[in-house]
Amino acid sequence: MSGIVLIGAQWGDEGKGKIVDLLSENADVIVRFQGGNNAGHTLVIKDKKIILHIIPSGALRENKICIIGNGVVIDPKVFFDELNQLKNNKLLPESTKIYISSSAHIIMPYHKIIDSIRETLTPTKIGTTGRGIGPAYEDKVARIGIRVGDLLFPDLLKDRLKYILEEKNQYITKVLKGNPLDFKEVYEDVVSFGEKMHPYICDTVELMHKLTRDRKNILFEGAQGTMLDIDHGTYPFVTSSNTVAGNAAIGSGVPLSAITKVVGVVKAYTTRVGNGPFPTEETSEIGDYLRKKGGEYGATTGRPRRCGWIDLVALKRAVMLNGIDRLVITKLDVLNELETIKVCVAYKYNNKETDIMPYGLNQLDICTPIYREFRGWKKNISNIRDGLDLPVEAKDYLKFIEDFLETKISIVSIGAERDENIIFEYLF
Ligand code: IMP
Repeated sequence: MSGIVLIGAQWGDEGKGKIVDLLSENADVIVRFQGGNNAGHTLVIKDKKIILHIIPSGALRENKICIIGNGVVIDPKVFFDELNQLKNNKLLPESTKIYISSSAHIIMPYHKIIDSIRETLTPTKIGTTGRGIGPAYEDKVARIGIRVGDLLFPDLLKDRLKYILEEKNQYITKVLKGNPLDFKEVYEDVVSFGEKMHPYICDTVELMHKLTRDRKNILFEGAQGTMLDIDHGTYPFVTSSNTVAGNAAIGSGVPLSAITKVVGVVKAYTTRVGNGPFPTEETSEIGDYLRKKGGEYGATTGRPRRCGWIDLVALKRAVMLNGIDRLVITKLDVLNELETIKVCVAYKYNNKETDIMPYGLNQLDICTPIYREFRGWKKNISNIRDGLDLPVEAKDYLKFIEDFLETKISIVSIGAERDENIIFEYLF
């Protein structure tokens, strides 16, 4: 049995969807453990682009068990829209089984309203995806959240929701100056989603334990990225869940012993969507070039992503925080035509050189990157399947990353298609 946690090591959008799909070939179980439909995991299968927001990215393969764990927040409408889209396009094999934890929290209509109005009012605009993620996690912690399992007990839900909605309507109308929601509509909608969800809902903790006991290969699919972690990211410009590997156990209800390996997905350059510090951001030509070549537009919101060079200082911290055992480098092909490629190896901070990310609000904003330059390989590498055939410049670039981060690279992705990879080592 193996339990591999796959996480994004940067600010999200590292290309995790494709790698989850690749690794799930040899996995029995794929589990989402945090986040919600703020994620957008893109897969390209035979020229067809599929973006999954809530259903685990392994769902498209035969005979997989896909679990939406207790640490996830779920918008029922998005779940069913996605499920129907997959079914209508004949992309969901009959043999795929999907389960939703009864303890996962529901993203309610008021969460989305609060998220979007707040973004227009707050002085520190976070640039959220507007999907109600933050407000749903807030309610979970405040113990006024609605859980998936609650939908199966409509009578008990009624009284709780009545009180909660009254409080939310006060906040929406008096503080945010928005329009109140109608109780009957909200209640009936959520109950009818509950009826439809019933066949998918279960105690995923029992299920996960049975699967571990049966020695299944389990892939824990992280969403967003390490630098967006609520505790360890660039707070307050973060998402509202723990995105680091440690949360895989909590968000799916397994003991730490179920995790045998942590894999960090790293894009060959860096992107960020939304606001917040980004030391290696390039706002000039090269940023535009990376955005265009890499198709760097948000999979969830369509927003153009901010682009820049790879930041090994931030990545060193990600390796430390997650305990990354192996790296997967994605989108190396985007750098194919560049004359020179830069790698951030330290920051200049308060007139000193440091390779440690500074702590504290806005401190990262005053860091300037110190780069080491590499010669580009200037040729198409997407047809290469054996690492030995990579141009020497590409080998040098990858070797430098490995050495700096003291972590081996297992896979290099060199195109969006399923088979466009150089595999140095099989992870399952
Ligand atoms: P929220 O998760 O919608 O609350 O957004 C908080 C921050 O996380 C914003 O900067 C978003 O752009 C960012 N974010 C959320 N999900 C993703 C993702 O899947 N990829 C990249 N950035 C994300």
